[in-house]
Amino acid sequence: VKDGYDYFMLKEIAEQPTAVANTLLGRISSSGRLSLDQMRLSDEELREIDKVVVLACGTAYHAGMVTKYAIEHWTRVPCEVELASEFRYRDPVVDRQTLVVAISQSGETMDTLMALRYAREQGARVLAVCNTNGSTIPRESDAVLYTYAGPEVAVASTKAFLTQLIACYLVGLYLGQVRGTKWGDEIRSVVRDLADLPAKVEQVLETMEPVRSLARELAGSTSVLFLGRHVGYPVALEGALKLKELAYMHAEGFAAGELKHGPIALIEDGVPVIVVVPSPRGRSVLHDKIVSNIQEIRARGARTIVIAEEGDEAVQPYADHLVAVPECPTLLQPVVTTVPLQVFACEMASARGFDVDQPRNLAKSVTVE
Ligand code: M6R
Repeated sequence: VKDGYDYFMLKEIAEQPTAVANTLLGRISSSGRLSLDQMRLSDEELREIDKVVVLACGTAYHAGMVTKYAIEHWTRVPCEVELASEFRYRDPVVDRQTLVVAISQSGETMDTLMALRYAREQGARVLAVCNTNGSTIPRESDAVLYTYAGPEVAVASTKAFLTQLIACYLVGLYLGQVRGTKWGDEIRSVVRDLADLPAKVEQVLETMEPVRSLARELAGSTSVLFLGRHVGYPVALEGALKLKELAYMHAEGFAAGELKHGPIALIEDGVPVIVVVPSPRGRSVLHDKIVSNIQEIRARGARTIVIAEEGDEAVQPYADHLVAVPECPTLLQPVVTTVPLQVFACEMASARGFDVDQPRNLAKSVTVE
């Protein structure tokens, strides 16, 4: 069943181009219109929505963070993202005009289920983004958009995450299509760019050998830090989560702009810092700011591992290790920038002698609150 791979996780990382392609399949017409099977919420209902609340846990929550950036930019509808386990304990403001997006690979995560039940009791419409056909979360939702990652066996979520990103982009773009926004041209161009993602993920996978050897070299580290901005921030959190759960190592993700507000004190000689760099095109202000961050931490002794768009020359002089990923529109970048972090965590855990597929204390599906 592992098809010759040492771990399910490696197999599932390798399956990502297909998983992404399958999740897009049949949902975009040749004219670039989206049609979402099983959406079940009418265009009328979607036009009434005045707020989106995304609920999820763990890796799915990181997909939710990316969703917020996409939905607000493409639709101008306010979007909140919240850990499902916190949601119903704070008297949240939700009503019939709220669209709740509940993201879950398993469809059985109790925290997410309880949060969506609470939201429905308040009158919200709930759309599930789920990988498991017929599971509880889609059954209890008003609508569902399935991800087609195929069964994910390894405890660490990889291909499910990439397909959650795709499904959430589709939700955002669909909302934009139904409601009409001033970003019409941009939405049309992003819809076209989605189709290139499977090939881009494949391209990243073909260049992962240096990342593997770096992970083996750094396997004795006591701590690894991750920095990102904008949609690179949830990617940094995801990289840190993977490393914690698999390699049992102190790992923390930060929004790079926060560095000067505290975390820079953690930088000491030799500490590995993985930096997810935004494209120099698009939001170039953020790119330049993060290049300064890299200079600052390097001057304080950090070993900088930089994930940047290919051809990004400005960052090269400050990267001790450079991982180049293909060019993508800013909001789609997490689909390619996450992959090296998955490979890094998997290789590091294996180099440290741990069971990559069955990390200690963790279950694939968390069915208790
Ligand atoms: O099945 P779900 O997507 O609802 O699971 C949510 C989290 O438990 C899950 O993503 C967890 O964080 C993974 N082990 C991370 O790799």
